[in-house]
Amino acid sequence: MAREYLLGVDLGTSGTKTVLFDRLGREVASKSYGYAMHQPHAGWAEQDPADWWAAACATIKGVLTEGGVDPADVKGLGISGQMHGAVLLGPEDEVLRNAIIWCDQRSARECDEIHALVGRERLVEITANPALTGFTAAKVRWGRNNEPEVYARIAKILLPKDYVRLMLTGEYATEVSDAGGMQYMDVPGRRWSGEVMGRLGIADSWLGKVYESCEVTGRVSHRAAALTGLREGTPVVGGAGDNAAGAVGNGIVRPGMVFSTIGTSGVVFAYSDDVTIDRLGRVHTFCHAVPGKWHVMGVTQGAGLSLQWFRNNFCSEEVRTAALLEEDPYALMDREAALSPPCCDGLTFLPYMMGERTPHLDPYARAVFFGITARHSKRDMLRAVMEGVIFSLKDCLGIIEGMGVGVSEVRASGGGGRSALWRQMQADVFGVDITTAESGEGPALGAAILAAVGTGLYPTVEEACSAMVRERSRQSPQEGMNERYMEGYGVYRALYPALAGLYPRRP
Ligand code: XUL
Repeated sequence: MAREYLLGVDLGTSGTKTVLFDRLGREVASKSYGYAMHQPHAGWAEQDPADWWAAACATIKGVLTEGGVDPADVKGLGISGQMHGAVLLGPEDEVLRNAIIWCDQRSARECDEIHALVGRERLVEITANPALTGFTAAKVRWGRNNEPEVYARIAKILLPKDYVRLMLTGEYATEVSDAGGMQYMDVPGRRWSGEVMGRLGIADSWLGKVYESCEVTGRVSHRAAALTGLREGTPVVGGAGDNAAGAVGNGIVRPGMVFSTIGTSGVVFAYSDDVTIDRLGRVHTFCHAVPGKWHVMGVTQGAGLSLQWFRNNFCSEEVRTAALLEEDPYALMDREAALSPPCCDGLTFLPYMMGERTPHLDPYARAVFFGITARHSKRDMLRAVMEGVIFSLKDCLGIIEGMGVGVSEVRASGGGGRSALWRQMQADVFGVDITTAESGEGPALGAAILAAVGTGLYPTVEEACSAMVRERSRQSPQEGMNERYMEGYGVYRALYPALAGLYPRRP
C-alpha cells in the first residue's frame, strides 16, 4: 500500500505540538515548541504571532526529519488552534500589535457595548452566544476604543491558527468551528453575519473566507515549503478550534457522545445534530468540525488548576516520594485520595479558584472547603478537591442534558483523563460509561483526521474517525455509587447560592 501520512498541528497556549500520523491514526513522530504568553497587566494575555509561525515551521520540519518521511507522502495538513484570539493585520499582512488571546479579560465594557449595539437577544439568536470577554469581537472592539491608531490600519482580522494558515498558503481563510468564536458569525447558517458585522463596524474584507473544517482551504506555498520542509502544493484543510478538533480526535462525531477534558480548565463538549442554544449563555454553542453539525460546550475555570494548587501547597511529601520512586506525584496523590470514602465524610470543595464560567458566569466566585471536622485529614481534602472538579463538570453536563442533548457515553481526555480514580468518579457521578481513546493527542489527531477527509482518504469525518480513533479503556458506574454521590452533589449545589452574596465584587 502507498505510504500516506497526515500532519496535525496543534497551536496551543503554552506551545505548538505537531504530530505526524499514518492513515490509521497511528503516531509516527511528534515535536513540541514552547512560547511565551505576555501579561502586561493583570487579566491581560497576549502572544506574538511570529512565535506561532516559528513554532509551526520548527515542529513540522522536526517531525518530517524524525519520521524519516518523504514530504511527497504527506497527503495533507490540518491545524487545531487555541480559539478566539484577535490577530490584527495591516495591508501588507504585517502584524499590527501582539494578538490578544482567549483568556484575556480586558473587554468587559466592550461586551456591554456589543449587547447595546446588536441587542442581547438578537446577538444570541444569530451568534448563538452572548458577548463574552473571551471572544474575538470584544477584543477587537477594545482596540477600537483604546488603540484607534492601530484600529485605523486594520486590513484583516484572523484567528491564531488562520494566521499560520496564511503563512503556509497565502490564503485568508477560516472554518466554521473556530469562526463562531469570533462572534461575527451566523452560527445556525454557518456563514458570516452581515447584520452583526454591520452593527459592529466590521468590513467584509477584514474577514477570511469561511469553509467547512474538512475542506481544502489552500496549498503550501513555495516560500512555506522552503521553511517547513513540506512539499509545495501540500493541501491545507480548514482544521478546527482546539475543542472541536479534540472532539474529532476522540471520536465525538455521533449523537450521545460527549467528551470531558481536565486540563488547567475543564471542558464538557457534546455533539449535537441541531443548533441548541442556552438562552442564559451558561454554555457555548458553536459549529462542529463535522459538516452540518454543531456542539455545545461548558467550561469550568479551575479544574486541573485546583488539584495543581493543592499539590503545590500541601503535597511536597508526595512530590519528594514520587521523585524517589520515579513516579508521577499525581499517581501517588490518586492512591491517597482513594483511601478516603466517596463524599469524604461530608467534606465538600467548590473549585472556583479563577471565578467560574459554567454555570455561574461569575468572575468573582471563590473556592471553598465546606464541612471540615476534626476527623478529616489531608487525604479527605485531596479527594474533596477531585470530587469538586467532577461536580463542576456535572453542572456543565446537567445544563447540556437540560437542553435536550443526549449523553450516552463520556470520553475523558486531557491530563485529568489519565487518572483512573478521576475517571471512575466521572462514571459514578455522571452515571454513564467513561472511555478513553488510544491516542492522547486529541486536537492534533482531530486536525489530521480532517486533513484525511479533505484529501479524499476517507469519505466522511465519521468514517475517518471509525478508522483512526480507537478505544483504550472503559469504566462503568459502580452499583449504588451514583446515589451516594448525589447526596454530596446536593450539598455542592446548595453552597454557591448561599455564598454568592459574600464574594467580594471586585477583581
Ligand atoms: C474555549 C476557550 C479555550 C481555548 C483554549 O471557549 O476559550 O478552550 O480554546 O485553547
